[in-house]
Amino acid sequence: MVGLPGSGKSTVGRHLARKLGLAFVDSDNRIEQRLGCSIREFFELEGEQRFRDIEVDEIAALTQIAGCVLSTGGGSVLRAENREHLRGRCKVVYLRSSPDELYRRLRHDRNRPLLQVADPLTKLRDLYAERDPLYRETAHYVIETGRPSVAMLVNMIAMQL
Ligand code: S3P
Repeated sequence: MVGLPGSGKSTVGRHLARKLGLAFVDSDNRIEQRLGCSIREFFELEGEQRFRDIEVDEIAALTQIAGCVLSTGGGSVLRAENREHLRGRCKVVYLRSSPDELYRRLRHDRNRPLLQVADPLTKLRDLYAERDPLYRETAHYVIETGRPSVAMLVNMIAMQL
């Protein structure tokens, strides 16, 4: 699962895994276990690029696991190695949401380091403009998340795979 923060990668991914009888793996959770602190704290202490290096390592390892649903961090597609590993080894689903919809979902969320800025909506629009082409380049399937419920999204994805 790839997509911007708040697009539902973890929620939809967890339900999809249950439906398909597969394990669910979240790359951000794995990274937090490895770091022993939250990603937000790590961003503050070490900066984004150091986080991206660790993310490359984790995605390289996690994309080797057969038979699981993997939810990735929203910025994973920024690094070419991740895009190659994901597209080459996995069936990649892009959960597409508009920046305005994401803003509605995330405006009270304090755990997304990139959105702790004065104007998160503009930030989401910028992230969307930068990343939407990268998600599309990486993904085998694009799923629109606007209206359908989680259960409907899971069924739509399961039918495509
Ligand atoms: C990031 C998204 C986060 C997390 C990190 C960076 C991003 O994951 O990997 O804070 O660059 O968009 P979610 O997409 O699960 O919020």
